[in-house]
Amino acid sequence: MTSTPLLSVRGLRKSFAKLDILKGIDFDVAAGEKIALIGPSGSGKSTCLRCVNYLEQPTAGEIFLDGARVGVSTAPTARAMSNRQLAPQRAQMGMVFQSFNLWPHLSVRENVAIAARMVQGLSRAEADALAEAMLAKVHMEHKCDAKPEQLSGGQQQRVAIARALAQRPKLMLFDEPTSALDPELVAEVLSVIHELADEGRTMLLVTHEIAFAREVADRIFFLDGGVISEQGPARDILANPNTDRLRSFLRQLAH
Ligand SMILES: Nc1ncnc2c1ncn2[C@@H]1O[C@H](COP(=O)(O)OP(=O)(O)O)[C@@H](O)[C@H]1O
Ligand SMILES: [Mg+2]
Repeated sequence: MTSTPLLSVRGLRKSFAKLDILKGIDFDVAAGEKIALIGPSGSGKSTCLRCVNYLEQPTAGEIFLDGARVGVSTAPTARAMSNRQLAPQRAQMGMVFQSFNLWPHLSVRENVAIAARMVQGLSRAEADALAEAMLAKVHMEHKCDAKPEQLSGGQQQRVAIARALAQRPKLMLFDEPTSALDPELVAEVLSVIHELADEGRTMLLVTHEIAFAREVADRIFFLDGGVISEQGPARDILANPNTDRLRSFLRQLAH
């Protein structure tokens, strides 16, 4: 008997106006599994992540997190959830964006604590303690009182990761977390993500950092033409691409 996957994506389609971006995506992610989602620019990687946590409403298809339907309450009849109903589900999928999206007027501690108060209903003291613990995990505890503008891009992204962790997510979604960083700041962020991976966290990570994907991901999905056109264990996929499309994509990244 196999256990229920932590995340199941079934028949996911997404169109913008008449443009079909995702044309039927199906995959499962087991608890503790790390998946790297790769693919050309514009292939729909961000759209896929955003449909998983219903930041975008899928055109068709179903998402299940830990067996529960995401974005749709099923009893008594199927009905789209409001943003308010969605908030606790979204919190279970800690998302880290390319552009850190920290609140400029709030301290680092506040940036991390605020969702814990609003969504989890923690007291200020509890939320601050949680924030400080999560900031320690990303090695940013010494900057609790700083404002985002006083931090480097790499530090800001680590705070954004702490903010996602403070929601106690079941799944982490990373959307090109190092693409907006100066090259010398990439390593510190990848190293934090690596540490989280080593803790056994479940991750769906969009990245162009192929060496990192090879090292950290259990499986790689290649999104191309609106579908996952190749997938498999990271080393196999990267060493032996089946299609010319993936071969030329990897060759371009190498340059
Ligand atoms: N909100 C939107 N409205 C219209 N088109 C969109 C929207 N979001 C994404 N797209 C389009 O969908 C395609 C896929 O975008 P995206 O998911 O951002 O790709 P990727 O992350 O792989 O670069 C692009 O052509 C993009 O212009
Ligand atoms: Mg994108």
